[in-house]
Amino acid sequence: KTAAIVGCPFSGGQPRAGVDRGPIQMVEAGLIDQLTDLGWSVKFHGHHQFEEVNAVSDPPIGILKNPRLVSRVNEAVAQVVGDHARKGELPVTLGGDHSLAMGTISGTLSVHPETCVIWVDAHADINTVESTESGNLHGMPVSFLLGLGSKIPEFSWVKPLLKADRLVYIGLRDIDTGEKRILRENNIKAFSMHEVDKYGIGKVVEMALDHVNPDRDRPIHLSFDVDALDPSVAPSTGTPVRGGLTFREGHYICEAIHETGCLVALDLMEVNPSLADDASVRQTVQVGCSLVRSALGETLL
Ligand code: ARG
Ligand code: MN
Ligand code: MN
Ligand code: MN
Repeated sequence: KTAAIVGCPFSGGQPRAGVDRGPIQMVEAGLIDQLTDLGWSVKFHGHHQFEEVNAVSDPPIGILKNPRLVSRVNEAVAQVVGDHARKGELPVTLGGDHSLAMGTISGTLSVHPETCVIWVDAHADINTVESTESGNLHGMPVSFLLGLGSKIPEFSWVKPLLKADRLVYIGLRDIDTGEKRILRENNIKAFSMHEVDKYGIGKVVEMALDHVNPDRDRPIHLSFDVDALDPSVAPSTGTPVRGGLTFREGHYICEAIHETGCLVALDLMEVNPSLADDASVRQTVQVGCSLVRSALGETLL
């Protein structure tokens, strides 16, 4: 079994500098060796270098910020993730901001069309061109993957290959008004922190899997935004929201998805080592690494 680390030092989907250092810090913290110790053969040939698109040649489209840059980077990421998946490797994409999931999930779906997506996040990241209030593309990748909202020529490479009933959320607690409507109108299954409190994480993961993968035979793409965790657990991230998943709840999700044997791709996004003090940064980077290990089979016993 081979894992391919796709390091994506990219921050163009949101305004805060530093999230591009997330993958670099996770690798420096020893992630490659940790996965090797778990029995994986790990491929890592350096962090991806993205073509520069300067701000002058990338003016906003409507209120969307850095649209050409985000589009080009994600097109490249889709290619890389798809290439690894085609070889039977498990792409582990380290972000970087969550706009990168536009690329990672496109890459996965190009190889495994039956894939279901489990999106673990405080946010739904499903704003459309019409609904976004911030214009930050990291709040929008899901709408592009589903083909919602009006189309922009710059993003025409993104194929709407994801079906609404193959997507499930866990951990939501900060959803824009427009996003709530989009979730409702498209009948998208979501387990917010309310459901996590009500049923417990074990039951929530089981219900989430029953919804998108009832026979446990479909490939799973797990897209994990570190801000799904409570800020006391993962403080160094750009859009922290209180009331999040505990350390164990986050790891339980990863462990349970590993146990299905269906995981074909993993994203670990939004670690921003330039936010908060040194101890908080170290803590967040380490949590990022341990979530990846759990998804790749690390067990407590
Ligand atoms: N809903 C807000 C927006 O669209 C916040 C999105 C935060 N996304 C994230 N990947 N952290 O701007
Ligand atoms: Mn590679
Ligand atoms: Mn988020
Ligand atoms: Mn996100």
